Amino acid sequence: MFNHLKRQILQHLMNRYFLKLRPVPEVEADTTEIHCSVPPGPNRVDQLLSRMTMQEKIDYISGVNGFSVRAVKRLGLPPVWMSDATSGVRGVDAPVTVFPSPIAIAATWNRSLLKEVGRSIGRECRATGVSILLAPGVNIARVPVCGRNFEYLGEDPFLAGVLARSYVSGVQSERVGVTVKHFVCNNSEFDRHKSDSIVDERTLRELYLPPFETVVQAGAVGVMTAYNLVNGMYASEHGLLVERLLRQKWQFTGIVVSDWNSLYSTRGPLRCGVDIEMPGARWYTQKSIQELLDREPEYAERVDEKVRRLLSVFDNLGVLDRPVRDADAPVGSLEHAEIARKTAAESIVLLKNDDLLPLERTERKSIVVVGRFARYEPIGGGGSSFIKQGFPGVSIGQVLGERASASSIEAIDGRWWRSAKSRALLRDADVVIASVGFDHVYESESYDRQWELPRYDLRVIHEACRLNTNTVVVQHAGGAVHMAPWVALPKAVLQCWYLGQSSAEAIVDILFGTVNPSGRLPVSYAYELEHYESMHAYPANFDSVSLARVQGGQGDPEKRKTWLLVYGEKLMVGYRQFDTVGPDPLFPFGFGLNYTDFSYTDMQLESTQRGWCISCRIMNSGEYDGAEVVQLYIRPEVSSREHPFQQLRGFEKVFLRQGESKQVSFVLDERSFCEFDEDSESWVRVAGRYTVVLGSSSRDIRLTSTMVVKKSPGN
Ligand code: BGC
Repeated sequence: MFNHLKRQILQHLMNRYFLKLRPVPEVEADTTEIHCSVPPGPNRVDQLLSRMTMQEKIDYISGVNGFSVRAVKRLGLPPVWMSDATSGVRGVDAPVTVFPSPIAIAATWNRSLLKEVGRSIGRECRATGVSILLAPGVNIARVPVCGRNFEYLGEDPFLAGVLARSYVSGVQSERVGVTVKHFVCNNSEFDRHKSDSIVDERTLRELYLPPFETVVQAGAVGVMTAYNLVNGMYASEHGLLVERLLRQKWQFTGIVVSDWNSLYSTRGPLRCGVDIEMPGARWYTQKSIQELLDREPEYAERVDEKVRRLLSVFDNLGVLDRPVRDADAPVGSLEHAEIARKTAAESIVLLKNDDLLPLERTERKSIVVVGRFARYEPIGGGGSSFIKQGFPGVSIGQVLGERASASSIEAIDGRWWRSAKSRALLRDADVVIASVGFDHVYESESYDRQWELPRYDLRVIHEACRLNTNTVVVQHAGGAVHMAPWVALPKAVLQCWYLGQSSAEAIVDILFGTVNPSGRLPVSYAYELEHYESMHAYPANFDSVSLARVQGGQGDPEKRKTWLLVYGEKLMVGYRQFDTVGPDPLFPFGFGLNYTDFSYTDMQLESTQRGWCISCRIMNSGEYDGAEVVQLYIRPEVSSREHPFQQLRGFEKVFLRQGESKQVSFVLDERSFCEFDEDSESWVRVAGRYTVVLGSSSRDIRLTSTMVVKKSPGN
């Protein structure tokens, strides 16, 4: 896979741009500048538009200063700032809260927590003068090596859509807009500017588009297009996707923002693509648009439409009438820190536990932390998501030292196995924690990451487990990793993603049982990389690719080559593949252990006016308080590549004290039983017998029932 030195160079180059911190605007200065020349009212946007010159309009549809929509002082239009917020507001000089990465947040399977995180980020945006957030990312984890899987919400479109909807409702409740990204089929980073994702219509509609559809229908005000081509057309000027689907079918009235430097012509995107070119005008320049208008004056209407959409979104959010920054909004508050910490702890997935965890809190313990992350925590991935504040994260050893005062704690990195003293320390320890995995250099946009842990980390795991049987592996990675060769060695394994500012606190909470683990895998972990059918189309020559090629982004599509990335596996992605055509995964989708036990009883199923209602009773029958993620899958009568064996159609996270029980209910809507029919270009109900299953993971099914779905009147 891609050489590490190249990754380091690219990360360094990207960070020259991404690590710049913009000062938070002064409230006083901004307030005095804002007097929109047209007062609020029903025709405000049209009036503003009619007062703008063509030159001002053209200026308005491309960005300035890296992350802003240009102010039009003459008309009292303020600058509108955007910012990334993969795991917190990035790029502003303020003590922002660093939340866990999206894949970690997805692993909580907790809608209300996502809403809380969204709301907190929304408030921090208000506090730092950001009105449009460049999040959430909802691309499906198609290949485990995608460098950006950590920025997304896993492999299942239903899970990703529902969670993103909660996040968006949180952000937008603070009157900050979102841009759900990257629309669409940007499912690996290698050659993202030059790859042409070839995907059949049904797969697009059933697997890659639903998270966008869910969020758009829930009121997201923005969408960001992807860098790549989809079926031969650049996403930024994709008539079928942007114009016909997003605008006409989904009735999206918000703004379509380009990814940074992802326009490849002027006419295409102007006709049926992005509303605003970011970060600045390369194709939406005065010269190129004026030339186009001279040739085809009707394009003036297109320019107007774009400006109208931008102004409408800004007007609805209140951006035209408020100071750029809200002086009363909190940033880096204790409340946000608490939400970040709760989310981090809830996202950790306990993958293995042979009676080692939770560690006894009262007993005196000697603990040794070894590995790449013995002295700091990797709190986030790289690229545009990387947050300078809080990096490097406080180490596990430091938190252990503060919490377990009676214990002896050692942290050893480097090649410790060469030292007799270190070996003895490990041998004599009560517990060894091997903190391994990737960081922001390994996992980032622009390139993909390796499937195997780095060689050094593998050595750490082997040596630690050889010296001490009570070894816990703490693994940091933004998705599935090759674990089959070593997973039998340690007694316990925690999947820790990138957990943000409270990473070490959250890990210690889980180790000692202060928090009962309740994270669940939002992706399947295969035994081998070749087991993912989606990897069969992945370019074999990735390793030998030059830096210049990876960097060479925008260009003239006439002059340079793009290549086809064929999504030949169609729907067979993640558990849809493993459960339908195999092979068995190492850790299945939805999996995660707990320190307690839950029993499932009393499944009820009835057809009502609202749809099919399904319920069951969950009881915490074990010895710890804890949370269960109840998952509902539906299985058609006959499964095949065209009809996956099962698909997630509902989930609920329930918190139960010891001995407590609760009823959990689901409603299955019409879409739950539909497939996309390419001929009629519509969703068609698939009649027949279905098995509905409720379980603790996709492979741990506790209750089963059957139902018959009738033909819809139309088919
Ligand atoms: C990324 C986007 C991001 C933008 C602005 C691009 O490189 O692909 O996701 O929002 O940069 O930082």
